[in-house]
Order: sequence, then C-alpha cells, then structure tokens
Amino acid sequence: MEKTFLMVKPDGVQRALIGEIVSRFEKKGFQLVGAKLMNISEDLAKEHYGEHKERPFFGELVNFITSGPVFAMVWEGKDVILTARNMMGKTNPAEAAPGSIRGDYAVQVSNNIIHGSDSAESAEREIGLFFKEEELVSYEKAVSVWI
Ligand code: TYD
Ligand code: MG
Repeated sequence: MEKTFLMVKPDGVQRALIGEIVSRFEKKGFQLVGAKLMNISEDLAKEHYGEHKERPFFGELVNFITSGPVFAMVWEGKDVILTARNMMGKTNPAEAAPGSIRGDYAVQVSNNIIHGSDSAESAEREIGLFFKEEELVSYEKAVSVWI
C-alpha cells in the first residue's frame, strides 16, 4: 500500500493544530502507521530540504523548521501521496483553496503549517530520513473494507 510522509511544522504545533490535521487524514480514510513529536536537527533539516539549498529562502526555511517541535507522521492508503498534497493545498496559502489545510489555517508561505511528500521517490526518501523501519506499524483495520 502507498505511504507518504507528512509533518505538522512548528507553527502548526504551536497553534494547536496537530489534532485537527490528524483528524482530517483519519476521516478521509487514510491509516496512520507511524508518528512522533520531535525536534529536527540542523543536519536533518538541510538533508530533508536539500532540493532547495540554492534557493534564497533556504536559510530561513532551515531556521523555521528547527525552531520548535514538529509532528512527523507516516500515512498509508490508496493514492495517499497525491491526495494528501491536495488536502494540504498549494504551497502559498494565498493560492491554497479554502477547505484545504493551508487554505483554512495559513497566511504566509514561510508558515504554511504542513509538509507532505510530493512524489513516490520523495516519500520513500523522507520516510527513511525520519523513521526507522521498526517505528512503522503495519496493522489491519476492519473499517478498511468500507473505504
Ligand atoms: P516547496 O517544496 O516548494 O513547497 P511544498 O512544501 O508545498 O512542497 O517548498 C518547501 C517549503 O519552503 C515550503 O513549504 C515553504 C518554504 N518556501 C518559502 O518559504 N518561500 C518560497 O518562496 C517557497 C517556494 C517555499
Ligand atoms: Mg516540497
């Protein structure tokens, strides 16, 4: 089954949005298979956002993502990578549709509440950066047959 890496960023944790965000993915029909509240080291931040290292906002991005705890998660389900990106909304909250997480809860691109893997390759890479294999839990839910 497809898996993706999602993370409530420090602004989302500070604004008490962990429960709301988890709830949206649960209600949609996805399954949580790993989660932890953690601080991101500077090295992990630079590795995670490596694709942006030449961009002008890279320094601020690393400072922001290491500024407080994040809630890192792995979610599983059919087409979860693309669907989660749609549920998050566009990167710039001003362009994110109302009803999406960024559309409903964010104003600035630098403080856009949530991260989600953008492809199968990113998902595999990011899950591997944040979670050990034994931290992911594989389990059956009876309700899955209705989703
Ligand atoms: P990006 O991977 O383009 O967006 P997404 O999170 O939707 O995959 O950028 C990573 C993060 O970098 C983004 O969530 C917020 C930050 N960022 C800025 O601060 N300024 C910018 O102009 C861009 C494009 C991103
Ligand atoms: Mg991205």
